[in-house]
Amino acid sequence: MRKQIVLTGITTTGTPHLGNYAGAIRPAIEASKNADVRPFYFMADYHALIKCQEPERVRQSSLEIAATWLALGLDTSNAVFYRQSDVPEIPELCWMLSCVTAKGLMNRAHAYKAAVAENEEVEGNDPDKGINLGLFSYPVLMAADMLMFNANKVPVGKDQIQHIEMARDIASRFNHLYGEHFAIPEAVVDEHAATILGLDGRKMSKSYNNTIPLFETEKKFKKLINKIKTNSLEPGEPKDPKGCTLFGIYKAFASESEVEEISQRYAEGIAWGEMKKVLFEKINAEIAPARERYYALMDSPKHIEEQLQEGAIKAREISVPFMQSIREAVGISPVTK
Ligand code: TRP
Repeated sequence: MRKQIVLTGITTTGTPHLGNYAGAIRPAIEASKNADVRPFYFMADYHALIKCQEPERVRQSSLEIAATWLALGLDTSNAVFYRQSDVPEIPELCWMLSCVTAKGLMNRAHAYKAAVAENEEVEGNDPDKGINLGLFSYPVLMAADMLMFNANKVPVGKDQIQHIEMARDIASRFNHLYGEHFAIPEAVVDEHAATILGLDGRKMSKSYNNTIPLFETEKKFKKLINKIKTNSLEPGEPKDPKGCTLFGIYKAFASESEVEEISQRYAEGIAWGEMKKVLFEKINAEIAPARERYYALMDSPKHIEEQLQEGAIKAREISVPFMQSIREAVGISPVTK
């Protein structure tokens, strides 16, 4: 049986946090242990440039994200683990795809529409104020990421589903014009993957500035857990686990029976200070060994770079000949035959 190709990328604009870990990275690493799966996991650094024009931040984020995957034990003998920008065939494919993509399709992209809507809130504003072409055609670059490696399954958050639907449209259009070159990718939204709330009780996200970095030092990590907002119920007063940020995070790390036990303690009026301690211990037990490895890796970026170079070689073993066939399909080839 041919292995299922599972592909996903992370945009390199920030430091990985607990939400990225429980929502995306942990399930992806789990999936990579399935022998029927060939994972392609990459750092989407070209995507980063769309919203981040601070070179040092893009560089640092790429390093941190790569170190995170490796520290968490991604098996790079099975997974192809690479940096998007190390595969120049991806932007080349992006162009080929752009030329079969209706502009109207891109007009409907949520991210672009949201940016326009925000501009239109201010009377007299140009609707395209501050919007670069990268943002507008973001879904085409994402389609190139997927179609280059014939991805079958693409695990993503709900906000990305539309992009995969667009990639399916674009792939079908290309196949229709030039023959069956691309597999049609499918979005996989893991309903069990945890969505974690941040320090202020909103979804944990770098855009809300409410994150808990995954590999903060143990001391800082504890401090951040202590900063998570709770209500003002006193110790001894019964508390509702529903909607409680602490409980939600605990659930993403604990077994079913542990969750049940904690629900019981909520009913009995566990003190918030005590719950924070329990939560810290629970998460820390899971991530402490990886944290050690993370710091060791961050101290030897050379080792990380080597892994990425190896990943790039594996990726290009596929992308170079594939791109060659795409060039030929569209009529770009030597004039001598
Ligand atoms: N756009 C995705 C995000 O911000 C990251 C990404 C880039 C991606 N290319 C991809 C995800 C291809 C899946 C497949 O989360």
